[in-house]
Amino acid sequence: MLAYYIQGGQLMREQHVLITLFGATGDLAHRKLYPAIFRLFQKGFIKNHFAVIGTARREWTDDYFRDVVKQSVQSLVKSEEELNEFLSHFYYQPHNVNDTHHYVVLKELSERLDETYQINGNRVFYLAMAPNFFGTITEHLKAEQLLTPNGYNRLIIEKPFGKDFASAQELNHQLRQSFDENQIYRIDHYLGKEMIQNISAVRFANRVFEALWNKENIDHVQISLLEQVSVEERGGYYDTSGALRDMVQNHILQILALVAMEPPVSFGDIRKNKIKVLEQLRPYTPEEVKENFVRGQYGPSEDGLKPGYREDANVADDSNMETFVAGKVLIDNERWQGVPFYVRTGKSLNAKETIIDVVFKEASSPLFCGVEGCPSNRISIHITPREGFCFVINSKAVGNTIALQTSHLEKIFDETFSLRSPEAYERLILDCIEGDMTNFTHWEEVAASWKYVDTIRQTWDSEIAEEFPNYAAGSKGPKVSFELLEREGRKWVERD
Ligand code: BG6
Repeated sequence: MLAYYIQGGQLMREQHVLITLFGATGDLAHRKLYPAIFRLFQKGFIKNHFAVIGTARREWTDDYFRDVVKQSVQSLVKSEEELNEFLSHFYYQPHNVNDTHHYVVLKELSERLDETYQINGNRVFYLAMAPNFFGTITEHLKAEQLLTPNGYNRLIIEKPFGKDFASAQELNHQLRQSFDENQIYRIDHYLGKEMIQNISAVRFANRVFEALWNKENIDHVQISLLEQVSVEERGGYYDTSGALRDMVQNHILQILALVAMEPPVSFGDIRKNKIKVLEQLRPYTPEEVKENFVRGQYGPSEDGLKPGYREDANVADDSNMETFVAGKVLIDNERWQGVPFYVRTGKSLNAKETIIDVVFKEASSPLFCGVEGCPSNRISIHITPREGFCFVINSKAVGNTIALQTSHLEKIFDETFSLRSPEAYERLILDCIEGDMTNFTHWEEVAASWKYVDTIRQTWDSEIAEEFPNYAAGSKGPKVSFELLEREGRKWVERD
């Protein structure tokens, strides 16, 4: 029976696809990927003509695998029948990524499932595992002819994509031996978030913003990705990464690119325009890095209940790694010359908040903005945990006065919004199956971002941060982050 779904106002046939998941026993698969695939199944994007092969080193059976998947999707299940139907499409193949023979077995299984489910040769290879295996896997996929000549072959890979420009280039080179750029879907899960995708709608579908989105009208932009969680179980990874590699190189610069890019003419232009703006970030000398970027590391909380970063079992006692970054990014182009983009991110802060604040220049009315000036208008895009917008506007205070009052025109979506909006991984896996690369990062974006971040990393690695730890877990972050803006007569937007 043919199944259909509506996408972008169009009636679409259900997708035919075989997803081969490397890292099927891992945490990401369990927490995010199986639920995402299940939601796609429930919504009819995939129905009869799909199969998932899970692979990893462990010697699991199909039944055991299905049991694991079952547990991961349990909370979403509406009927036992639906669940069993879904699980029947899952298969497990133990796999050693270095063993050629295993790829031969995998190929046989793929071909068998292709026939059973009439998949038409469409393949998605999802590498949910450490990047040091990417090259070996993709090389074998090609050499052992797992790439099909008739359908599509797409590769999804997770971050981190390298640890600096050189290693990213090397990794990319390895992948490109087997896959073309237009077959490589590099995940940045922020690009799958509802409100991140909303940035373009706000910018380009509103004359009031579209017309004012430039250096003449915007004073500065703030991008804050603040986290309440500590490094949790990931101290070992984090101590080689730090906030700069973990959040700035990817999520923050991606958001910045969406906020700053030139207006695209088509969705296909978005990545091209993001690449351009990332290549226009003003590179800093090491001296300029020290002026424009500050770092922090959390110590124990003031009440002593939350441990400091260096107390983590997998972190060095004298670790120099930052768990907080704030910086001023400048873009050298006509639209943004001289407009600072202040960015910040950190762990173990007082609250989780992901938000973009676009602060406009003050109005200049001699009537209302005399000596003290007028408060700036601002559009804030709340990404998470609250999702919505806030437009800050001035009007006359009530009564016999010409004093101003500032109002917050706020639209915060209720819980049904997040229930209705697809989860990031659900959206991104569907995009990949449908062949839409808009919300995946192009190699040139990755390259430009690493080049920008590398100078900061090198500058910081060359000097011990004597001041670490410089903020308490559960606080608002280090003093230097506030000083960065204060010295330019600005401040981070505070909310109640
Ligand atoms: C990941 C980082 O990419 O993003 C994590 O590796 C971070 O350290 C996470 O916690 C934040 O994502 P989100 O969606 O919870 O804001």
